[in-house]
Amino acid sequence: MFYIGIDLGTSAVKLLLMDRDGKIVNIVSREYPLYFPRPGWSEQKPEDWYQQTLLGIKELIRDVDKSRVAGISFGGQMHGLVILDEEDRVIRPAILWNDGRTAEETEYLNTVIGTEKLSEYTANIAFAGFTAPKILWVKNKEPENFARISKIMLPKDYIAYKLTGVHCTDVSDASGMLLFDVKNRRWSQEMCEICGIRVSQLAKCYESYETVGTVLPGVAEELGIGNSVKVAAGAGDNAAAAVGTGAVGDSMCNISLGTSGTIFISSKKFGVDRYNALHSFAHADGSYHLMGCMLSAASCNKWWMDDILGTGDYGTEQQAIGKLGENHVYFLPYLMGERSPHNDPNARAVFLGMTMDTTRADMTQAVLEGVAFALRDSLEVARSLGIQLTRTKICGGGAKSPLWKKIIANVLNLKVDVLENEEGPSMGGAILAAVACGEYESVEEAAGKIVKVVETVEPESALVEKYQERYRQFREIYPACRELFRRNGE
Ligand code: XUL
Repeated sequence: MFYIGIDLGTSAVKLLLMDRDGKIVNIVSREYPLYFPRPGWSEQKPEDWYQQTLLGIKELIRDVDKSRVAGISFGGQMHGLVILDEEDRVIRPAILWNDGRTAEETEYLNTVIGTEKLSEYTANIAFAGFTAPKILWVKNKEPENFARISKIMLPKDYIAYKLTGVHCTDVSDASGMLLFDVKNRRWSQEMCEICGIRVSQLAKCYESYETVGTVLPGVAEELGIGNSVKVAAGAGDNAAAAVGTGAVGDSMCNISLGTSGTIFISSKKFGVDRYNALHSFAHADGSYHLMGCMLSAASCNKWWMDDILGTGDYGTEQQAIGKLGENHVYFLPYLMGERSPHNDPNARAVFLGMTMDTTRADMTQAVLEGVAFALRDSLEVARSLGIQLTRTKICGGGAKSPLWKKIIANVLNLKVDVLENEEGPSMGGAILAAVACGEYESVEEAAGKIVKVVETVEPESALVEKYQERYRQFREIYPACRELFRRNGE
């Protein structure tokens, strides 16, 4: 049988077709527009997601026996606010995970309601990209839209709804709404009251590997598949990526180098970071995880290459990079503000330290290193909690670069396990579909059988030491700029 994994990303929807043994049969990607209506704002149209997903599925299964498609599931960009009216029509464009418009609402939640209460109700505090501050923003700034809300959904759940007619979500994605009692895996009544909504406006919450329904007859006919094809709830893209890279069970780590950059640490036990700098969320395997999220990771490199240098040839640019660990240029990668650990929507990107002999390659190197240093900021929070990691998996577009993997291994001082493919979230989605269809007993069993490490990038002690010194300096840049960022953002 075949399983479809749909990764509803920020730049594109990536679809993957997997057979029952985990072999990838086909991969398709389709882009859609991303809108920045004001600096720091970020929106997409749910209708675009659905249209491109349908076209993507058709292309994905064009050359296979369609009657063998048994299940569909997802990894989806997290935290995005999709609001539907009484007739399930989209009320306004979705406000995305990397949108920074909710500074006021986030401040209100963290100071007036208070981080202690938020953490007690949800295991997390408010970050500008989370869903609850966005609901408050719509309530404050677009009351006419707020009054029309019948259902509040997350991006991938809108696709599940269009495929099945069921309003559903899953525990990992729900965790990022700041409306979910993560420990007990249920909606928080208190948070709904704080946001002025009713629990009935939220979708029914499933475990990621549970079936929510089967495809609607009209959809099945359009796609040419049977209408007994099951749709499983799926997961937020980071939890799905962790499934797709085998970061399931206890103390496993995955780094995702996509538009965002995340460091994801799985845990069998529920736990909260006492500083609330890391997110404490439910995992797609039935357990929990801690996660640090930076808002711009591979997107920094894409911006630098495509928009500034005007080249699509990333490989050649990286070949010109000389010695690692000795670059005199630093880059703060905060093109969209920053989430973990600074929680600062006003933060901005900075190049620092250029001289007359600085080259284009030094600046490219600084971008790659700046992302690695910022990931290390989150890893340091985990280390301060006593979490000891020696290795990590890696996925996402940035993981295609051998040089970037080497920089990450040495900046973070972690062994980096490279997998047969970098298709984290779409692979995870397909695995969740296979579990829902009974192909495997559990997510852990499926990931254990399917995911294969093909190479390990080992940190080198001399380089780790050099980067240690560079990181010490990197850490001083943000605090020195914070006040400037704040004034600039006023
Ligand atoms: C995680 C986060 C991002 C998005 C990217 O908290 O906001 O990783 O999920 O799609």
